[in-house]
Amino acid sequence: MSTAAIHAGWSAQDRHRAVTPPVYASSAYAHPDHASLKALFQRRQEGFAYSRSGNPTTVVLEERITALEGGIDAIAVASGQAATSIALCALAAPGGHVVASSLLYGGTTEFLDDTLADFGVNTTVVDPWDLDAWERAITPATRAVIVESIANPGAQLVDLDAISEIAHARDVPVVVDSTLASPALYRPGDHGADLVVHSATKYLCGHGTTIGGLIVDTGSFDARRCPERWERLTTLNRRFGVTFADEYERGGSGLLAYARAKYVTDFGATLPAASAQQILVGIETLDLRMGKISADAALLAARLHEAAGVARVDHPTIPGRPDAALAERDFPRGTSGVLALELAGGEEAAAAFCDALELWTLAVNIGDARSLVCHPGSTTHSHLTPAQREACGVSPGTVRLSVGLEDLEDLWSDLERGLTAAARTTAEVPALVG
Ligand SMILES: Cc1ncc(COP(=O)(O)O)c(C=O)c1O
Repeated sequence: MSTAAIHAGWSAQDRHRAVTPPVYASSAYAHPDHASLKALFQRRQEGFAYSRSGNPTTVVLEERITALEGGIDAIAVASGQAATSIALCALAAPGGHVVASSLLYGGTTEFLDDTLADFGVNTTVVDPWDLDAWERAITPATRAVIVESIANPGAQLVDLDAISEIAHARDVPVVVDSTLASPALYRPGDHGADLVVHSATKYLCGHGTTIGGLIVDTGSFDARRCPERWERLTTLNRRFGVTFADEYERGGSGLLAYARAKYVTDFGATLPAASAQQILVGIETLDLRMGKISADAALLAARLHEAAGVARVDHPTIPGRPDAALAERDFPRGTSGVLALELAGGEEAAAAFCDALELWTLAVNIGDARSLVCHPGSTTHSHLTPAQREACGVSPGTVRLSVGLEDLEDLWSDLERGLTAAARTTAEVPALVG
């Protein structure tokens, strides 16, 4: 893992033998003659024409994440949101059906509920721990199931092997948002996932500098198994003049070739080359970072669980969590740096807690080197209905923590400051005498 994180996709092979993958800041690429550019557009030749659909720096990132996830191909896109939306459009639009875990990032739930619904795609939401519910929800129209390997913000884990078995028995591909885990902690492809999506903005980049997203094909989905169902891949595409499923014969991904040609190009959700390089640099230290972050998050979760004024802590190591056995079985290196706590005093206590912190930064991001805090109910999950918020474990008193790389004791003493401020909001006001 740590070797591939540094070397996969690049070996100082450019003209100047640059050690670090350079930023190819070029919109277009010159060709020696008419025949060369024509062959590229006819998909008879590999190469670059225009950076909206391919860039040499971005390709290094695509090769690196493919190696880290043990996949066959990847596409880098403009954001994690673009990764999820393009993956689901490629599988399910128009008119398909998706089965989604109730424990998803708020932006994904909103996309499913609103924008993907505009494409005629309906979604059935299920409790990811209820395997019978997955079984019941899949219909002949289902084109994808989607889960998070570690959910945001409660760090809930899923039995992906079991969910994949249910989906694959009905020939339905499994999409896993593995943003929180990153390949350093968990490889969804080893547990049945067909597509892995990442918000590279988070742990892969690791320093809060860049927005980016990735879609990885793990190699288990082959549209040719159900040619009628995936006829957009298995029949000749008039616009592009190719049958995308032919990619499988070359060891590539028919699905990602289709997603890149159609959705990345049409939606224009391209990852800038400079962003690809930032993410590549971040990935070099991913393995080191994820171990410390996961260990520190577990220690802070245990202390918060004992703290006064905290009604609940959401983290797989907390006694009574139904996913404790999954943590032991599938996450030997830990479960990443995100945890949620519910303050007994509700939103007022949560606001006082956030405002009192000096070291933790109040910001709606995770996976930064800096520790971050936010109130999901009024930010990342604020556009959901109260029922949707409840289904993903977000209440008015919920605070999300994203543990960074600072000293653990510094982080803890700041959290104690926050807890003291939260306690003041619920302390009984002394009765006035006289
Ligand atoms: C689990 C998860 N998936 C996807 C996204 C969307 O990623 P981005 O903000 O890079 O579009 C986020 C963002 O917070 C996330 O936490």
